[in-house]
Order: sequence, then C-alpha cells, then structure tokens
Amino acid sequence: MNSQTRAGSGPPVPGFPGVVYQIYPRSFRDTSGDGVGDLEGIRRGLDHLSWLGVDAVWLSPIFPSPMADFGYDVADYCDVDEVFGSLQDLDRLIAEAHERGLEVWLDWVPNHTSDEHPWFVASRSSPDDPKRDWYLWRDPAPDGGPPNNWIRHFAHEPAWTLDEDSGQYYLHQFLPQQPDVNWAEPGLRQAMHDVLRFWMDRGVDGFRADVVHLIGKDPALPDDEGDWVGIPRAAFHHESVTHEHLRGIRAVLDEYPGPRRMVGEINLLDPREVASYVADDQLHLAFHFGLLYVPWEAERVRATIAEVDAAFAEVGATPTWALGNHDNPRVRTRTGDEAAARAAAMLLLTLRGTPFLYAGDELGLRDAEVGPGQVVDPGGRDGCRAPVPWTADPGHGWAGRPWLPWPPEPEESSLERQRSAQDSILHLHRRLLTARRDSAALVRGDQQLLDLPGEVVAYRRSDGADERLVVVNFATDEVPVEVGPGWDVQIASDGTGEGRGFTGRLGARQAVLLEPSGP
Ligand code: GLC
Repeated sequence: MNSQTRAGSGPPVPGFPGVVYQIYPRSFRDTSGDGVGDLEGIRRGLDHLSWLGVDAVWLSPIFPSPMADFGYDVADYCDVDEVFGSLQDLDRLIAEAHERGLEVWLDWVPNHTSDEHPWFVASRSSPDDPKRDWYLWRDPAPDGGPPNNWIRHFAHEPAWTLDEDSGQYYLHQFLPQQPDVNWAEPGLRQAMHDVLRFWMDRGVDGFRADVVHLIGKDPALPDDEGDWVGIPRAAFHHESVTHEHLRGIRAVLDEYPGPRRMVGEINLLDPREVASYVADDQLHLAFHFGLLYVPWEAERVRATIAEVDAAFAEVGATPTWALGNHDNPRVRTRTGDEAAARAAAMLLLTLRGTPFLYAGDELGLRDAEVGPGQVVDPGGRDGCRAPVPWTADPGHGWAGRPWLPWPPEPEESSLERQRSAQDSILHLHRRLLTARRDSAALVRGDQQLLDLPGEVVAYRRSDGADERLVVVNFATDEVPVEVGPGWDVQIASDGTGEGRGFTGRLGARQAVLLEPSGP
C-alpha cells in the first residue's frame, strides 16, 4: 500500500509518520573555526537529535554555491560546498545518522540554479548553445524593457535581467543570480532527475523541494493580471503542467527502495491548491505555511487548522505543520513569550500530520537583533538564522566567531543549560516527542476539533482505543475548560498538574496533553 492511500475506512496514513528536524547548516555548529556551521558540526549534533527523538533531518542546501542566497543558488547539485566540508563528510554523516535510525533529507532547488552553474554559463554563452533553452530567454518588449510585468522576490523589481551580449533577457523569480530553469526542456528534466538519483545512490532518504510549484510555466509567459500585478509569483503561481513534472519526479523517487520521500515547498495560500500537489503519484508531503503566517490568536489558529486539515483530508492525505523555518521570524519571537512558545510546541507535535521542527526552536530561541552593519541576507531573514548556542560559555560551542550575532540570552538558552534543567522548553520538546512516538492516536489517528468557547483551541486524536485530548489556552489569564470527566494530564506545557486528573482549568497560555484516566 502506498503511504498516502487510505487504510480501509480509517484515517489517511501520514506521508511521513515521524518528525522532521530542519537544520540550516550555516547556523547549526561550526567546528572548522570559520564561523560558519559545517557538516562535522551536524555530525557531532546527531546525539542531540537522537536524544531529542526526531526521525529525520532535513538539511538546507549544502551544495557548492556563490551564496548570493546562502545556498539556494546552486552552482553544482552533486557536490558539497567546501565551507560545509566534503562529500566524504556527508557520506559519514548519512552513515552515522542511519546508525541512529535517523533519515537524511536534502534540499533540492529545482526552480533555479546559480548564474555560476555551468548549465547557465553555457546557456548564456550564445543563443545557439545547446543549453540555451534550459533557461528562459526572451527578447525585450517593444520599448526595450523586460518581456513581461513579473516581479521578483526580495525587491520590487522586474524578474528579468538583460544580457547585453545577446540582447535578450533571462527570467529569475528570485535574485538575478538565480536564473529560472526551463522544465519544458527534456534535457533539463533529465539532468534534474539525475541529481535526485545521484543523492539516492548515496543513501539520501528524502528531499525538500524548494518552491517546486513554480517549475511549470506557461511558455507564453503572459503578463500577470488584476490583483496579482506587482506580487512575486510564489504567492499565487499555479500551472497544471507542474503536476505533470511532479509525476515524473515521483517516478524517479519510486525507482528506489523506499519510500524515498519528497516534501514540496508550495507557497500558495489556499490549502486546497497546496493539497492538490500531494497524491499517490506526486509529492508525499507539501508545506502549507498557514500557522507560520497567522497571528497567534485562538480563532485564527483554529480556523487555519480546520481549513488545512480538511483540504488534505479531501485528497486522502495528511498535512505538514511548521511553526518556524529559515525564512520567517522564530515562533518564540512571533508569539511573544516562552509560555506561548511552549503551547505552540504542544500544537506542532500533536496535530494530525507531519511536524517540521526548525533547529533551535526546541531551545525556544528568539531571533537575533541584527544591526544595520550586520545584515547579510538580501531577503531580510538574518534574525531567524542566528547561530545555535550549544554551550553556556562565551564561545557557545562554536570554533569561530559566528557569521551572525547570537540570539538573545545565548547562555540561558544554550543546549547545555537546558539539558540540565528538567523544566526547560527543551525537555518539554523531548517529552512531547516521546509521547507522540508512544501513541498511535498522535502518530496517525483521526482528529476532531472541539467546539470550545473563547480563547481555547482543543482537539481529540484517536486511533481505535488510543485517545488523546489537546487543549491550548491562548488567553493571558486562567480559563475554565469543559472536556468532561476521565482525563489525566499527561504533559502540561508548564509542567504543572501532570500525572493527575485534569482540573478543568488552564493557566495563562498553558497547553495540556490529556490521556484517559487509568482504571
Ligand atoms: C525558498 C527558500 C528560500 C529561498 C527561496 C529561493 O523559499 O526557503 O530560503 O530564498 O526559496 O530559493
């Protein structure tokens, strides 16, 4: 049975039953002394990940890159940038991760390459080059300007750059250093497929596919119209040919014993559109970023959960949930205090579907304050990419001075400090991950949102006789909650009342995981 199909009349089986931990390699841990995190730092972190209890590690891009977009501009898909180490370091990391039962997923960037990738260098060299059509070249508009009105990401500027030599423009939906490739070209498709094979041959278990909904394009590249004019296309671009490309990609994944999984970054706002990319013959999983974007308010969060869950259920799939990543302010910064970040962890790790936990969120890290002279990212995302503090001493376990400033209170929030404090947010994450693993209801059960009044979000998870209730208070004061008798507190976000009957009251911004009372 495929991992996405329904098991009998029961609930859909998750596209991935475990928890994925996202590492932004530059910011995880530096062992070489250059202030940039590396593969050896990740290898040394594997014990932490096993102890924490996650199931897979997704590494943001580690490939050779000029780093205009810190690795999302790939100059060679089949090697490792020396700032991170070598292919041998990656082989070792994969082997040691596998010894611990951890999967390794890489970040595949299929929509664009670096302008320094040999494919683009060849493509730019002449309109007659065999790789010319691997990218999207067009003549100028009649007035000499860009061929259409598309806007790129990170700046309100055209998504086109003129190549003086040929007099043609090339398309780039992100930086000018990130030219879009042309998936209509069979040679390009084959080359991209071979990249996946290269890594699966080396033992890679899965991929996160960067802005994969952008890869299909209408060859006419028509102007954007109406409300979409002036908005970067990742927010709305939806082309049916992308589904065809995804079927081709899935066939490559299915060549390997598996399952080898792929989660797509589908930035679209409508969850039904996102879910349309998840099916037996397309992606295993897709990100919908609703919970990353909504304000931390009960009503908005409840509505988002309901809408996203229903959209995925409709196609017989399960959603993914992410409260943080390398592109958005950290959950602790967005929600405002640690109590809320603890409650958020409870949600993330108990909702139906696959949780993605952003490295450092288990420590409750906040965004760094990045002064004007310290800004390095063209997209203004430096704060959430601050280095992870491992130890409490001033070097925080990094061999060199990190490339970005530390998050606030690096000593207090360091892994070392929190490991020794049983009541830390780190231990809360670990206990939630254990509880999740031990409960079929949480891993794969049905989910029913409860209709509770006020600033409370609550849902019941069930798989046969196994049942859990999750109740989250968004209010900044105590609230009464009516869930009926017979529930014990298995885990409380602030540790209070655990192992006893639920009192029917939740503290300010408190969340509880309830289990049926024993006989
Ligand atoms: C995705 C990545 C982001 C990157 C962009 C272009 O949104 O998450 O970091 O800048 O794609 O590759």
